[in-house]
Amino acid sequence: MRSPVPDSARERCAALDAADPLAGLRERFVLPPGTIYLDGNSLGPPARDTADRLHEAVAHQWGGDLVRSWNSAGWIDLPARLGAKIAPLIGAQPDEVIVTDSTSVNLFKLLAGAVRRQPGRTLILSERGNFPTDLYIAQGLIDQLAEARRQPAAGAVDGPHDKQLRLELVDRGDLPAALAAARAREQAGQGDLAVALLTQIDYRTGARLDMARITADVHAAGGLVLWDLAHSAGAFPVSLGEAGADLAVGCGYKYLNGGPGAPAFAFVARALQADFAQPLSGWMGHATPFSFDTDYRPAEGIARLLCGTPPILSMIALEAGLDALHAAQPLGGLAALREKSLRLTRIFAQRALERAARHGLRCVTPMTDAERGSQVSFTLPDADMAHAVIQALIARGVIGDFRAPDILRFGFAPLYLRHVDAWDAAEQLADVLDARAWDAPHFLGRAAVT
Ligand SMILES: Cc1ncc(COP(=O)(O)O)c(C=O)c1O
Repeated sequence: MRSPVPDSARERCAALDAADPLAGLRERFVLPPGTIYLDGNSLGPPARDTADRLHEAVAHQWGGDLVRSWNSAGWIDLPARLGAKIAPLIGAQPDEVIVTDSTSVNLFKLLAGAVRRQPGRTLILSERGNFPTDLYIAQGLIDQLAEARRQPAAGAVDGPHDKQLRLELVDRGDLPAALAAARAREQAGQGDLAVALLTQIDYRTGARLDMARITADVHAAGGLVLWDLAHSAGAFPVSLGEAGADLAVGCGYKYLNGGPGAPAFAFVARALQADFAQPLSGWMGHATPFSFDTDYRPAEGIARLLCGTPPILSMIALEAGLDALHAAQPLGGLAALREKSLRLTRIFAQRALERAARHGLRCVTPMTDAERGSQVSFTLPDADMAHAVIQALIARGVIGDFRAPDILRFGFAPLYLRHVDAWDAAEQLADVLDARAWDAPHFLGRAAVT
């Protein structure tokens, strides 16, 4: 069912690979043969030395020095050390980032801390299409603060939380207008924006927000901004510092290749750190955890974002992923990776549309470079069909994913993907549609994880 393939086009991709200074980085990852992995935006593959590092940690550190390894192997320093390794990827200073907990938990800590810094301000502004956990965490925090207000005796909440917080959700396109309105209220002396909770790259469409402009708009309205960098960190250069961003979180298991459920990171701009109070005041965030004081006293700086004992084995796996990413540094680093990612996504989207637009395939990812992250998303006329197409592609070794209600999503991690992968994946997608290979009962059912 192959349409006549202009071989020269695939050859051009092969030539791009042959000339690609980043091509050797692929060797640093374990990828099953015969697979084109376009889901590194959901779970990145292991670095080649991840298993060895874990073995070393279990057999020799844990199994050798036992509890002494907290000091002798530097386990206790891992959250800060990995934070410092993530910092240059996101345009932050080493002491502004720490690795801890999950993205969801960090969202809670940072959102709560941000709201607390904004007494009298009642609005959390976010997007209707934001990733659900961001919205659920905001809803949970609002409910908790409302409950504490109803029961002041039980909940020692005063001042900053004495007004009902609310979550306003707008469509992405309406964000500028919502921020302009918030700014107008600010200028009229009725400022209410506490925090804007925004994800830079839309997880469904891959559309990218202009971080610098929006951060400035949020500040002009009196708000703080909390960026979710789940689909940004490790995929392209992020400039939190340059943008003047306040707070950010991100995942360790996507473009940072830290492994399933890898610990996440939290960023708090230096200027906010001194009196930043987060509610999960666990002992690891204490100024002197091993003095076992009765009263909580937060650590200086970013360490106050810690809560409990860090998951060391997961941190070691994440460090392996980060080191593999840092191997790109002498080759141009994230800027070079970004260039490659833009080429990969362009090749894939253009070829897929060239061959499959007639099946109703539509690209929902902006093709203007500055407006997209590192993924390409399509829709088809029917959601069940879209889901089945992804299953049929997976059966052929092209792994993307389906995001309800109707998105076929393909992530392009430039660290280990080749230009021919982008081309071949587009060909396979078109072949599946041409042959109706998706139209089979075993592709139509839905698993628990899509
Ligand atoms: C934008 C965004 N935020 C957060 C998360 C997940 O958070 P957690 O690691 O806590 O499950 C995801 C997961 O895909 C995501 O896409």
